[in-house]
Amino acid sequence: MVRCPDFVRSSRDEIDDQLRLVQLAELAAPTEETVRCLCSGKRTGMNKAREVLASFKARFGTGASVYRAPGRVNLIGEHTDYNEGFVLPSAIGFSCWVGIAPRNDRKLALYSGNLGEGREADLDDLENRGSGHWSDYPIGVAWALQEAGYRLRGADLYISGDVPLGAGLSSSAAIEVSTGYALLSVAGHAIDRTKLALLCQRAENEFVGMRCGIMDQFVSCHGRAGHALMIDCRSLEYRLLRLPPQLRLVICNTMVKHKLQAGGEYNVRRAECEEAVRKLSAALPQIRSLRDVTLEQLTQNRNLLSDTLYRRCRHIISENKRVQDVAELFEEGQVDGLRVLMAASHESMRDDYEISCRELDVMVEIAGRQRGVYGARMTGGGFGGCTINFVDAEHAGEFQSRVSAEYEAAIGLPPDVYICEASQGAELVETAAENLPKVTR
Ligand code: GLA
Repeated sequence: MVRCPDFVRSSRDEIDDQLRLVQLAELAAPTEETVRCLCSGKRTGMNKAREVLASFKARFGTGASVYRAPGRVNLIGEHTDYNEGFVLPSAIGFSCWVGIAPRNDRKLALYSGNLGEGREADLDDLENRGSGHWSDYPIGVAWALQEAGYRLRGADLYISGDVPLGAGLSSSAAIEVSTGYALLSVAGHAIDRTKLALLCQRAENEFVGMRCGIMDQFVSCHGRAGHALMIDCRSLEYRLLRLPPQLRLVICNTMVKHKLQAGGEYNVRRAECEEAVRKLSAALPQIRSLRDVTLEQLTQNRNLLSDTLYRRCRHIISENKRVQDVAELFEEGQVDGLRVLMAASHESMRDDYEISCRELDVMVEIAGRQRGVYGARMTGGGFGGCTINFVDAEHAGEFQSRVSAEYEAAIGLPPDVYICEASQGAELVETAAENLPKVTR
């Protein structure tokens, strides 16, 4: 099926907009609990599960099981996943929760707690592409699971999330994985987490129309508290790396998303990488992706590429090496070399891959001046969204207030700054009376 990715992707932005308005309204009147625990993951679990259960009962009149899947922050390794390279993300304490109970027919009755809106779908008559509605994510996952041969069961679903939208923290992976986990469980299927991640990626690639890599869904499935995941996006093997205990992952949200660029440029970058591989193959027939090319080979074959393609390749190849270097530092419990690697990653995205923007550059520059910072860079797809900062636990509070004030003075917008800990991947939070089978790790 041939589709126009830009069109479909801009529908995704519209979905984000609808949902973001609701989140902003919630954030405008935060409770003490929200402020205290916003990103530490401590608000997750029982409180939220109880809230979802109560809302489920009010809506559908029965008990439910509750599943949760987190958003993520990528520590380093940007746009390397779809080049079969390496990435190093952590799951974070913002999540999507799904309350679910089986029905006796073949319908999915979906209700978004964020939007206060419902949608129904017939499992025997699912479309094979989205329509730019928020329900594209859960319905796309149902579609991908059934396409892969999992016969699903009709169910009522209540969906509610707190992953900031349009911020590059993978609210879409969180809704996909939590829904997929819930739908499989209620239909009595066991599935391993890597397979679940791949099917959620397929839903996003083919149903929503965003040609994302595997990173977001993978870490939402496999994330571990206190750890980063070093993922080999070719073999899908991963290593859990314990984060140095004195480090806090501080995420600074620029509060901007340059939609026109973010809308189409992601897929354009991906197409550029594919074109570069085709061109380089003339001299390097053994390569399958940029993962297989060394910097030396790239330099030797520069004449095969335009300047733009050359710089795109240089980012991917050098970024893969930086991921491995950061992983090595974490393995040794070191933090000292982080600053240089994070700065090089940011510069490479700004100058070679051209996915940064003024707000991200200013945020990184401000962060670099603060005490207790071990490194800062933009994170996620680019053109706005967030930066990731490694900050000494002792200085994290001071970092938060200073960066907020300095960014607002420079850009004229108050940013959100979240002090995070790496958290656990998808899980069953609450089981309904009948004991449902679980997804295996
Ligand atoms: C988005 C995509 C990921 C990855 C990042 C960039 O988050 O969903 O697959 O490509 O951008 O690293």
